[in-house]
Amino acid sequence: MIDSKLPNLGTTIFTTMSQLAAETGAINLSQGFPDFDGPQALRDAVAHHVATGHNQYPPMAGLPALREQVALKVQRFYGAQVSAEHEVTITPGATQAIFCAIQALVRPGDEVIVFNPTYDSYEPSVQLAGGCCVHVPLQAPAFGIDWQRLHDAIGPRTRVIMLNSPHNPSGALLSMADLNRLAELIAHRDIYVISDEVYEHLVYDGVAHASVLACPALYARAFVVSSFGKTYHVTGWKTGYVIAPAVLTRELRKVHQFVSFCAVTPLQWALAGFMAAHPEHLDELPAFYQAKRDLFCRLLGESQFGFTPAPGTYFQLVDYADIRPDLSDVEMSLWLTREHGVACIPVSVFCQQPDPNWRMVRLCFAKREETLRDAAARLCAI
Ligand SMILES: Cc1ncc(COP(=O)(O)O)c(C=O)c1O
Repeated sequence: MIDSKLPNLGTTIFTTMSQLAAETGAINLSQGFPDFDGPQALRDAVAHHVATGHNQYPPMAGLPALREQVALKVQRFYGAQVSAEHEVTITPGATQAIFCAIQALVRPGDEVIVFNPTYDSYEPSVQLAGGCCVHVPLQAPAFGIDWQRLHDAIGPRTRVIMLNSPHNPSGALLSMADLNRLAELIAHRDIYVISDEVYEHLVYDGVAHASVLACPALYARAFVVSSFGKTYHVTGWKTGYVIAPAVLTRELRKVHQFVSFCAVTPLQWALAGFMAAHPEHLDELPAFYQAKRDLFCRLLGESQFGFTPAPGTYFQLVDYADIRPDLSDVEMSLWLTREHGVACIPVSVFCQQPDPNWRMVRLCFAKREETLRDAAARLCAI
């Protein structure tokens, strides 16, 4: 028997629920991906670059043209001046960027603070680096930071605090005031921040995303991660980026070059061209997804589920306490999938110690209108 380095890890719930959805023919609102394609011009550009010889290794840190576009974008949105050469690295997905940032920072015995619910890749990445996670619960129903608990969780071994805003699965947002407060809290400590901002452009109701890039005191000790997959509706392309000050970027690239060395060449060419030609895509994205959120929430208004419209991401949490309070959220997810034909994700899988009173599941609304109408009709019939 192999002595596993990750003994408690099985198949993720996302794979399990997507498989169950496929087996049962349920509408899949579980795993977070659109059921529509990315822009035609972007997909055509990939075909073009494959056909015209852009198929060999790109520079390790990413195509200069794409890094330049990322630097221009973060200046436009967050007023941040970052060096495309020394601070931007293109990676095969945000997950890989997070993994590399964790390996670059975390040493055996170090502690990493993660907020619960938390995205599932963080803890295994910390464990593989020899560190351990300290779980700090967010406060339901708004899923904000409990500052006292965060303060209490910070100790001499704390090396990293993981942020995720907009937050998967709750959709909650951190504000600039939150970022400034965090910067103050860790100002005199040797603590770094990894900020997972993959849903940075999915923020609704006219609110502006508060990026760590717009908070110089935090950025000085941070890796800021994003994903082209989320932003351009192409999650299967697994292409993302990480921005960090030059000294941190140097350390990150030492890991990145031996985890994957680079991200896929023709995808990078296509993204660079599309970003230059269609800057409006980013401006239109919040309204595009807000229309889906609003439609889905309006339709669900007729159901017995309780909810507050998600402020960000393409996930909507719904409370089923008035429907089947007897079921745990895992049981509820299986019941909804098998009996009512809608696959979802239980919130407890994002938590080390789930609150036993929570009765919440996560639904993904990155779907075509007919999918949302069909799913809502099934949920309203319960
Ligand atoms: C919070 C969060 N971080 C990271 C990722 C992964 O992004 P990528 O597909 O670019 O690796 C996801 C994808 O679901 C996510 O929800």
